[in-house]
Amino acid sequence: MVHRAPKIAVIYYSTYGHVHTLAKEIAKGAKEAGAEVKLFQIPETFTDDILKKMGAAPRANDPVITIEELQEYDGYLFGFPTRYGRAVAQVSAFFDRTGGIWAKGALIRKFAGVFTSTASQHGGQETTALTTIPFFAHHGIIYVPIGYASPDLTNMDEIIGGSAYGASTLAKGDGSRQVSELELRIAKHQGETFTQVVGQYVR
Ligand SMILES: Cc1cc2nc3c(=O)[nH]c(=O)nc-3n(C[C@H](O)[C@H](O)[C@H](O)COP(=O)(O)O)c2cc1C
Repeated sequence: MVHRAPKIAVIYYSTYGHVHTLAKEIAKGAKEAGAEVKLFQIPETFTDDILKKMGAAPRANDPVITIEELQEYDGYLFGFPTRYGRAVAQVSAFFDRTGGIWAKGALIRKFAGVFTSTASQHGGQETTALTTIPFFAHHGIIYVPIGYASPDLTNMDEIIGGSAYGASTLAKGDGSRQVSELELRIAKHQGETFTQVVGQYVR
């Protein structure tokens, strides 16, 4: 029997680039594990003027996900920074536009994982993942944590992001901290293990 590769969309929002860096590494891990992967951005709700005042990085080139495209994938790895301990408003705005496909049950038995970025060590990495799960539950999307399969997650030699809920990084208040090697490894691991889970289902 010929098996098709799982189709995975890495869908991110990133103001200053940290989540974008994680997204690229997660996509790499998923691809190496055999997925057909595409990177997308979550639609922007802010004007260019607001983004300029926030000192946002120039917009990345990846396409913006549409509701139609969402239905074409088996699994989604959603990445977004923390705002007040939960996902950026752009994530909520995007899911608020999915009522039509929710009514059709179009995303039932799709899969999702989450990755994030906070400024500080206890700024809400886990709460950001946790408070995003209702979007998946209501759509019938199966949430896939990474657990502690990666030994890097219990590393105590340095400050790191990453939890059982998903890969993450710490950006520092001024955004000057960059994604570390360990955090990149955890991100790649998330891409790989998510692909294994979705791939098993597709088979
Ligand atoms: C309005 C606002 C609220 C934020 N709230 C938090 C927070 O609750 N905890 C935290 O650690 N960082 C917080 N941050 C910092 C962002 O999480 C940080 O800029 C982000 O993780 C960087 O990711 P990016 O480079 O992908 O945009 C906040 C930033 C903004 C602009």
